[in-house]
Order: sequence, then structure tokens, then C-alpha cells
Amino acid sequence: MKVAIGADHGGVVLKEILAGFLSGRGYEVLDLGAYDTQPSDYPDFSKAVAEAILQGRAERGILVCGSGVGASIAANKFPGIRAALCHDTFSAHQGVEDDDMNVLSLGGRVIGPELAKELVLRFLSAKFSGAERHTRRLNKVRDIERLYEKAEG
Ligand code: RB5
Repeated sequence: MKVAIGADHGGVVLKEILAGFLSGRGYEVLDLGAYDTQPSDYPDFSKAVAEAILQGRAERGILVCGSGVGASIAANKFPGIRAALCHDTFSAHQGVEDDDMNVLSLGGRVIGPELAKELVLRFLSAKFSGAERHTRRLNKVRDIERLYEKAEG
């Protein structure tokens, strides 16, 4: 599976650990920066990861900022991106199974690397169930996106 990963300065250390970990597990990792701890802006990395998914260069994305909040807020501005901040393993897989989450956001200043490794594995190995009730709810989410795309057009 191709996985896009990005982080600002608050998440870059954890991002580096996760990129290496996932490569070692056989994932094809598209590392979209940052590549150092110089202050940077989380929306830039949310955009890079979101576009990689929307353009088909990656199937899933992982974002890391200090808290995981800003990166997920920015990623969710892209229609078709379903990002969530998950620091528990249940949400990391259930968010995919029920909600078709395609970006996992993490807080590099909140959780440690071992929990983060578990979270990314649970996220990446999960699959959307396709159950009728979940598909219906996702379609309503898409309807909301379309409604406001038109309102701004
Ligand atoms: C950067 O200081 C910090 O605000 C950012 O990494 C993130 O936590 C935002 O949500």
C-alpha cells in the first residue's frame, strides 16, 4: 500500500520514526516533509498529503503536527479527504471500517512512538466495511461537501 506522510516541525521527529517503521513493514512511503525541525506551517503538509491521495499517488495518508489538531482541520478542507485525530487504537481502525477515514492525524507532542506505531498499523490494515448504513452516512457527508462547494462557486 502507498502511504503519504507529512508533518510540521511539531511532528517531524515522530514522522521520521513512522516513515522508517512503515517502510520496514513493506509499505511504500511517500514522505512529503518536513525534513527538519525548522518552524513550518501544518497546512502545507496537510495539502501535500491530501493532494497525494486525491491524485491517486497514495491510498492513505498520515499527518503529524504538535497536537494533531491543526493538521486534521486543514486536511478536512479538501473534498474527499476524511481525516481524524486518533490517539486510541479503537478509533484508528473503526474510523476506517465505519467512516472510510483516509487520513490519520497524530500529535507528535502528545503520544510516544510505540503507541503511534500501533495506531498507524491499525489504521492501515483496516478496511471500510461497505455496510449500507455506513455508505448512507458517507453519502450524506459527500452531499454536505457538494452543497458548500456549490455555495462558494
Ligand atoms: C505548532 O506550534 C503547532 O501549533 C502545530 O504543530 C499543531 O499542534 C497545530 O495544531
